[in-house]
Amino acid sequence: MLRIWTDGKLAGNLDRYGERGSTFVYKPDAAAERAVSVTMPVRLASWQTAFGVTPIFEMNLPEGPLRERLRLAFAKATGTFGDLDLMAIVGRSQLGRVRFSGEDAELDETVPFQSADEILSSRRGGELYRLLIEKFAAYSGISGVQPKFLVRDRQAMAVEAGGRRVLSPLFRGATHIVKFWDPAEFPQLAANEFFCLNAAERCGLRVPARRLAEDGSALVIDRFDLRSDGTYRGFEDFCVLNARRTDEKYSGSYETAILKRFQQFGAQATLAEEGLELFTLITLNCAIRNGDAHLKNFAILYDDVEGDAHLAPAYDLITTTVYLPRDRMALTLNGTSLWPSAKNLLLFGEKRSIGAPKTLLERMERIGDALSETAKDVEGYAKAHPEFAEIGRGMLEQWEIGRRESLSLK
Ligand SMILES: Nc1ncnc2c1ncn2[C@@H]1O[C@H](COP(=O)(O)OP(=O)(O)OP(=O)(O)O)[C@@H](O)[C@H]1O
Ligand SMILES: [Mg+2]
Repeated sequence: MLRIWTDGKLAGNLDRYGERGSTFVYKPDAAAERAVSVTMPVRLASWQTAFGVTPIFEMNLPEGPLRERLRLAFAKATGTFGDLDLMAIVGRSQLGRVRFSGEDAELDETVPFQSADEILSSRRGGELYRLLIEKFAAYSGISGVQPKFLVRDRQAMAVEAGGRRVLSPLFRGATHIVKFWDPAEFPQLAANEFFCLNAAERCGLRVPARRLAEDGSALVIDRFDLRSDGTYRGFEDFCVLNARRTDEKYSGSYETAILKRFQQFGAQATLAEEGLELFTLITLNCAIRNGDAHLKNFAILYDDVEGDAHLAPAYDLITTTVYLPRDRMALTLNGTSLWPSAKNLLLFGEKRSIGAPKTLLERMERIGDALSETAKDVEGYAKAHPEFAEIGRGMLEQWEIGRRESLSLK
């Protein structure tokens, strides 16, 4: 059995149920604001799942090498190693406002320190990665298949007090995400993502602050769910909003699983503005040929689970076709995962009432301009870092194709 916490307060208990499922029950006296998800209001009846755990509890469970590492380290002690075992390990330090602890355990969210600057200037390559996996794997309640960790950086905790910078004792949890890459599979992935996020920012999209390591080995990203007082905002990805399991993240359409769902859960007052942001993000993903824009790569953020929810900043943007030339979209648009033409993107925007054609066209033009500007940076970086030249060239070729097919009305 596990204890489930929201905003640092006890919300309920989760236990195994049946052969492979689980059941969650709120504490009888839980207030409505203790809800674990916008999809799971506080109620007397339990929430049961026949297989695994409900999407909000599965949302941050590590995938890929991080999960494998935790399995190897902890499976011996527990015998088997399922979702609940993984939740018990990483559940005290994960993204968003939900936490897990052992049956009788209080919640201790403290994460060890790690200087972000040290990661950014390190020349220790694989050695640093091994060191971090040793130290931070058990504090890394974060999904995704790329190798990554959650760390707590001292600099992020500095606040003004009495005219000088002091460390705030309020920041006990992780402040940054550090993403690495496997050279055999996705060479130069950090630089690839860095420039795609830069392009997104130039499109006017909100993007978390990010820094690329000097040798390109890692990307250090600020958590956008962290508040300035050290507490965390509500964060839910679109797998959760669609009640889908992580292994269903590639199923669905941009029309229903993303846009319609956003219209359902997003705050009314900002729906028009953020709908346009969503259109810009989807269109940018087509232009940069990001075939990995699946349900877990879109999310909402909120301060109050019963209050207004907003589209989260853009994250995990990558030109995937530079590694997988035949890659297609992760979700469908107009019934197909083939990259859409500019005309089809416009029709999508118009039919779904995202904006007038003129507004949508302006957005598309801005994406084109953002890519032109960012292309110069990619070229400059490739000159200074010859190891990136091939991937950089490939990215720009893909952006050209993306622009021709998905941004220009022929
Ligand atoms: N800046 C951020 N602040 C808070 N949460 C974030 C941020 N960036 C990403 N996330 C969350 O962390 C998860 C993993 O990050 P990300 O998508 O970048 O990893 P990935 O391994 O590249 O993913 P994928 O499996 O899609 O390739 C995201 O799904 C999202 O839930
Ligand atoms: Mg992702």
